Formats: sequence, C-alpha cells, structure tokens
Amino acid sequence: MAAISALTLTTVLIVVTSLLPQSSCRYNGKYRALGSSPVEYVTTANFSVANLPTDTHLEFRRCHFPSFGPDMFKTLKASTRRITFRKGTVREMLIGSTTRLERIQVIDTGLVSLRASDEPNNYLKQLTVRSRKFSEWSPSLTSLRMLEEIDVAYCNLSYLNVQWFEDNNHLKMLDVSKNGLVVFDIGMSSIPKLERLHLWGNHLKELQRFPEAFPKLKKVTLAQNRWLCRWVANIRGAIVSQGVELMDMDGVCRVGWQINGGLCCRSGEDRKAATSQRKTNEKSLIHGGHDFIGMNGSVFGMKWRNTIVYVGEPLPIL
Ligand SMILES: *[C@@H]1O[C@H](CO)[C@@H](O)[C@H](O)[C@H]1NC(C)=O
Ligand SMILES: *[C@@H]1O[C@H](CO)[C@@H](O)[C@H](O)[C@H]1NC(C)=O
Ligand SMILES: *[C@@H]1O[C@H](CO)[C@@H](O)[C@H](O)[C@H]1NC(C)=O
Repeated sequence: MAAISALTLTTVLIVVTSLLPQSSCRYNGKYRALGSSPVEYVTTANFSVANLPTDTHLEFRRCHFPSFGPDMFKTLKASTRRITFRKGTVREMLIGSTTRLERIQVIDTGLVSLRASDEPNNYLKQLTVRSRKFSEWSPSLTSLRMLEEIDVAYCNLSYLNVQWFEDNNHLKMLDVSKNGLVVFDIGMSSIPKLERLHLWGNHLKELQRFPEAFPKLKKVTLAQNRWLCRWVANIRGAIVSQGVELMDMDGVCRVGWQINGGLCCRSGEDRKAATSQRKTNEKSLIHGGHDFIGMNGSVFGMKWRNTIVYVGEPLPIL
C-alpha cells in the first residue's frame, strides 16, 4: 500500500514536471481571456495612418515593424495601456520614457534586441518576450523603473547579471525559465522586492548568495539545470529557513546524475565519466520517490499540497 502511494506520488511528480514546460499556455489563457482589440497587417509604412482603435489593449497580429521605437509608441492612443505583438515582425524595440503603456508583450516576432531610452520610464509594469533570438539583456532596461514583472521565458539568454535589476525597486517576478543561462550572476547585488524567481530549464551549476540575495523571495523554480550536488546540499537549509517554496523538482535524472532534495545534480569531479557513460547508455534512470521524500511528505521545503494547487489553480491575472 505504502509502495503504491509512493509510486502514485512519483507519477504525480513526473506529470507535474512534464506539465511545467508547457506553462506558457497559461499566458495564452491570459491573452485570450482579456478581450484585446486586434490590429492586423499593418507595416511601418502605414502605421501612422492605420487609424488605431482607442481600446485599452491592442494586439498587433502579423504586423511588420523591423524596428519599433519611441515615435511609434507616441502614435498609440492615450487610452491604450497594453500592447501585444504576436507573430509577424518586431526585430528591434526601443521603449521610450514617455509611453504610458503598463504592459508590453512581444510574442514570436523574432525579437533580437530590446532596449529602453536613458530617461526613466515611470509607467511600464509588465514586460513579456518570447523569442529564441533574444540572446542579450540590455542594461538600459534598468530605466524601466516601475517594472513589476519580467517574463522572458523561452528566450535565448545565456548570462544575466542581477546588478541590472538591483534598482528595479518594484520587481516582484522574474521568469527566465527555458533559456540557455550558464551564469546567473548575483555577485554582491540583490533584488529587494523579488517574490518569484523562475530559473528552471537552464544550464546553471550553482548560485552565489542564494536565496539571501532575494530577501522577499517566496517561490522559486530550479529543476532541469546542471546543479552541483555540493551546492544543492548547501542551500537546502537556507531555502527552508528563509521560507522559500521550491515549486518544481526533477522526476528523472540522466545516467551519472544523482537526485538530491528533488533536484538532479552531479558531483563536480565526475563530469567526464558522466558524459561518456551517457554516450554508451542513453537510457534514462528513473528514481523512486523514496530517496527524496521526507518523513512529513515535504520535499526540500516544498509541500505536496502546494505543488498540486499550483498546477490546478489558475494563476492570478495581474
Ligand atoms: C498596410 O500595408 C500593407 C502592405 O502594403 C497592406 O497589406 C495593409 O493592408 C496595409 N494596412 C493598412 C491598415 O493600410
Ligand atoms: C543563442 O545564443 C547563442 C549564444 O549564447 C548564439 O550563439 C546563438 O546563435 C543564439 N541563437 C539564436 C537563434 O539567436
Ligand atoms: C517533521 O515532523 C516532525 C515531528 O512533527 C518535526 O519535528 C520535523 O521538524 C518535521 N520536519 C520537517 C522537515 O518538516
């Protein structure tokens, strides 16, 4: 009986883990739920004469703007608070200081470069990017002072410096899941108001001063990285004592990797061994739940109930 329920939990775990990568669906839900006014087939050439609606939320679909800059932001009606670009082209975007938009979403437009002008922008609260070509975070974005949520999941960032966000005094959510992060450089910086940090699906090995660099942190995702077991063992206590909830975990580790506190990790030395072993045997190893489920059913400070609630419960619309 106990074995069966452990197996069930493991199955739930694997299901939960495999659901997480599709969490972008929740964004689709958000977009569609809040009726936006579509604007289609506009180009840079006819943008200024396009007679844009006065609605609060505009969604540009299949529009082609190689570069979207301050002058174009100015063309938007004063009543517009949110804009979404979906499909089509927006390769470059420069966010000016005067635009009063509260939310900008740039989805599947092949965005390469995103910058903000030097003058501070005191309106923008939420920024979302989906682009596999978006590979560099520009420090100029620090001038978006009111940002509360940055969602750049499923992009191509390999390096982020926490210093770039240190002056964002309102930043509560940073989602960099499913990028190519090799380094998330905390240094001596901190993000004072950050409550949610999503780092799952990157190439991270360890984080310095974690979680203490984020004193208000409540929820974090860390699965599907390349953690060193030494690091995982070191932060476990700090995560629990700071009251941070780990929202995800790895169900399956590759051969040569161990599971520790719900995260796949490896001991620093045996990298070569693990790589060559993986080459000869691509088969994944499925770990039973027993080696990381604690006596009280809590894993690494995370409670089962919370995990399941997270998947089932609609995320708050902000
Ligand atoms: C803008 O120009 C494009 C391409 O020339 C055309 O397909 C589209 O219908 C124009 N849109 C408007 C609103 O004039
Ligand atoms: C993603 O970033 C890497 C550098 O980290 C770069 O070599 C690669 O070309 C980028 N991919 C795309 C699609 O831009
Ligand atoms: C598990 O429960 C015991 C007894 O109630 C308690 O002393 C211990 O701190 C709990 N451990 C965790 C990790 O919650």
